[in-house]
Amino acid sequence: MELPSACRHPGWFLLTLLLGLLLWVRRRRGWDPRQCPTDLSGRTVIVTGANSGIGKCVALELARRNARTILACRSRERGRAALEEIRAATGNAAVVLRELDTGSMASVRSFARDVLREERRLDVLVHNAGVSLPFTITPEGLEQTFAINYLGPFLLTNLLLELLKASAPARIVTVASFRHRSGTADSRFLSGQRRPRGADTAYSSSKLMGVLFSTELARRLRGTGVTSNAVSPGMVSTNIMRHFSWAVRALFALIRPFLKSAAQGALSTIYCAVSEEAAGITGKYFNSDCVLELPSAAARDVSLAQELWDESERLTGLSPSHHSPGFGTAAHPAPSPKNEQPQGSLCQNSHHDGATVGGTTALLKAVLP
Ligand SMILES: NC(=O)c1ccc[n+]([C@@H]2O[C@H](COP(=O)([O-])OP(=O)(O)OC[C@H]3O[C@@H](n4cnc5c(N)ncnc54)[C@H](OP(=O)(O)O)[C@@H]3O)[C@@H](O)[C@H]2O)c1
Repeated sequence: MELPSACRHPGWFLLTLLLGLLLWVRRRRGWDPRQCPTDLSGRTVIVTGANSGIGKCVALELARRNARTILACRSRERGRAALEEIRAATGNAAVVLRELDTGSMASVRSFARDVLREERRLDVLVHNAGVSLPFTITPEGLEQTFAINYLGPFLLTNLLLELLKASAPARIVTVASFRHRSGTADSRFLSGQRRPRGADTAYSSSKLMGVLFSTELARRLRGTGVTSNAVSPGMVSTNIMRHFSWAVRALFALIRPFLKSAAQGALSTIYCAVSEEAAGITGKYFNSDCVLELPSAAARDVSLAQELWDESERLTGLSPSHHSPGFGTAAHPAPSPKNEQPQGSLCQNSHHDGATVGGTTALLKAVLP
């Protein structure tokens, strides 16, 4: 494809190189996972989009810490390859693959149903799967980028919430992006009723929705021992660009050598998932150096977050009645004797005051459409 004449000016290339240099200089390592002693033996974690890039590095690190690690991938073939690689690198035989397409609510329900049927606990849920795709309405009537990046994770979290609460202290980490700052949280985007204007605006808007969801979830989970935080991985050299517009891809091709590696980009997510420092912290946004940062003003708009939540419940067929008692309140249910806690230091959460283990039937009911 021909570059527009303005882009052929050598100034653009110099500017891009300068930007790349700046990124490289800023690419300092913040938190060092090697200094973090957290062992995840007896814990179960789910990482979506774990077959590539940041998600694969996150899953590798959690598996290395002995977690039962569920790779939630949409492609059996790509998932299988990642599974073998992670098992070989860590020696952890409890790394398993489950199929999940976060863009299909039917797939999300089926995945959640299997998890609730077969897993006894869930300690860490990492929403990593993400894309930027052209405007398309899925057979379920949802716009695909928003379905994959936002609505699927929204539904999945809600369906697995009782298991997370029963396993508390537990952590939910949403991989967002600094790009959320240029997004708009218009819930009409979700069903394609309205189309975001501008290149890759659907992506930034879905990331803004991810931050709004993460903080609203934290408000609703107060007192349950389950934390929810959003992170920015920074600018990372992965496969993500293959779906972006040609202009963004051209820019990225130039600055790729200066970007973070996938392992460096995974650090903020791993930090939120396992670090002792992040225990008990909830409703926050961490930058790619694992430092707390204020997200955009829109991302901090409580009424916007509530509106988006309500519309997302409606679109996914969830309603408050799908949740067990205590959801959305600061209720403090009595700890269940069945709530077996492995010993260890993960998430020693000062705010944890116990949670009821819902019966399997109640949990399964929550996933049925
Ligand atoms: N790279 C960056 O600079 C950057 C910056 C900010 C935020 N992020 C975010 O970081 C996360 C990871 O991206 P990445 O950079 O590691 O890119 P990546 O290498 O392309 O990984 C994306 C992962 O998401 C999976 N995925 C895509 N659609 C899916 C679906 N419908 N259901 C289940 N999984 C799906 C992909 O699976 P397939 O291999 O099957 O496609 C892949 O495993 C994304 O949420 C992204 O938005 C990245």
